[in-house]
Amino acid sequence: MHIAVIAGDGIGRDVTAEAVKVLAAVAAASGRPIAFEHLPWSADHYLQTGETLPANGYDLLRSFDAVFVGALGDPRVPDNRHARDILLGTRFELDLYVNYRPVRLLDDRLCPLKDRGRTDVDFTVFRENTEGVYVGVGGRFKAGTPDEVAIQEEINTYKGVHRIIRHAFEHAKTRGLTKVCMADKSNAMQQGHALWQRVFREVAADYPGISATHQYIDALAMFLIKDPGQYEVIVTNNLFGDIITDIGGALQGGLGMAASGNIHPGRTSLFEPVHGSAPPLAGKDVANPMGAILSAALMLDTLGRGEEAAAIERAVEAAVAAGQTTTDIGGSLGTRAVGDWIAERVRRGY
Ligand SMILES: NC(=O)c1ccc[n+]([C@@H]2O[C@H](COP(=O)([O-])OP(=O)(O)OC[C@H]3O[C@@H](n4cnc5c(N)ncnc54)[C@H](O)[C@@H]3O)[C@@H](O)[C@H]2O)c1
Repeated sequence: MHIAVIAGDGIGRDVTAEAVKVLAAVAAASGRPIAFEHLPWSADHYLQTGETLPANGYDLLRSFDAVFVGALGDPRVPDNRHARDILLGTRFELDLYVNYRPVRLLDDRLCPLKDRGRTDVDFTVFRENTEGVYVGVGGRFKAGTPDEVAIQEEINTYKGVHRIIRHAFEHAKTRGLTKVCMADKSNAMQQGHALWQRVFREVAADYPGISATHQYIDALAMFLIKDPGQYEVIVTNNLFGDIITDIGGALQGGLGMAASGNIHPGRTSLFEPVHGSAPPLAGKDVANPMGAILSAALMLDTLGRGEEAAAIERAVEAAVAAGQTTTDIGGSLGTRAVGDWIAERVRRGY
């Protein structure tokens, strides 16, 4: 197995080092090697060379079994050009239409909600990843003047909406889940989101054993706090999915715990923690590496190495239960010590 690693910027580097450490540990324990190729693409690289990624960059990524990313974003690149090319560009160019974000509370103590625990926070969000308002279609007229007009279009295609909704139902079916909730804003966004409504009804009809419900995104944001236990699978568009998975991260104990995959089933896919580069924490050995390590587990699971993925998840859960964590979730260890603890646990527990 051949993995491209883009540690990126800020704490992306800190947490990626730990994810790679844990992957190496599980590969050694299982006897199934993983080769890593570290790509330097980052703000530093961009500022030094003027290149965000090389001309053949996306083709290069396609030659790997998967891509692992830390985080991208640096205050020295205010327009985020390199992050757009490397991260959003890869999502679009490799057509990674499924943004897979499991939200699972690993320990009751991490839940910020009163009287809620592990049984209440265990659902998966499928965020459409190649359309919506993130495609960059639009423009500005009379920019910088009091008459400025800024247009940012939202793109919804039948193909794009259909394939993410289908994927959400397939996920539910293969895991024996019985509830899929689609969230949109079709009361106010009557063109694009009418398409979501139509396609959702159409796809749901193929899954009679699955309860298909709809909530407006504002109501869903409220219910994620009031009653998260009602959800098993949520499917929504790019922007709404981006926002509600930060709520999901908070429900898991913080952004440092949240994992994600950017997937095109059967093709090279990209895995990354949900959090950003958190520049103030960078290089200080304080960032929580668990979201990155759980993203590495998601990567192995997606590549058909479920046993190793489960071993990593067990080790992370054990670390949380034993209080072997960074300070953001109540422990006193540094980033590297948490990575060491989990890697050792993986070695012993495989
Ligand atoms: N996928 C990505 O690469 C990605 C995602 C989001 C933001 N960004 C970029 O990251 C930069 C910073 O953005 P931001 O501050 O809005 O979001 P952020 O996720 O970097 O940080 C938000 C907050 O969460 C905390 N936090 C995040 N990850 C943590 C971790 N692993 N351990 C402990 N605490 C953690 C930070 O201290 C901060 O208070 C920006 O340039 C932004 O564009 C990148």
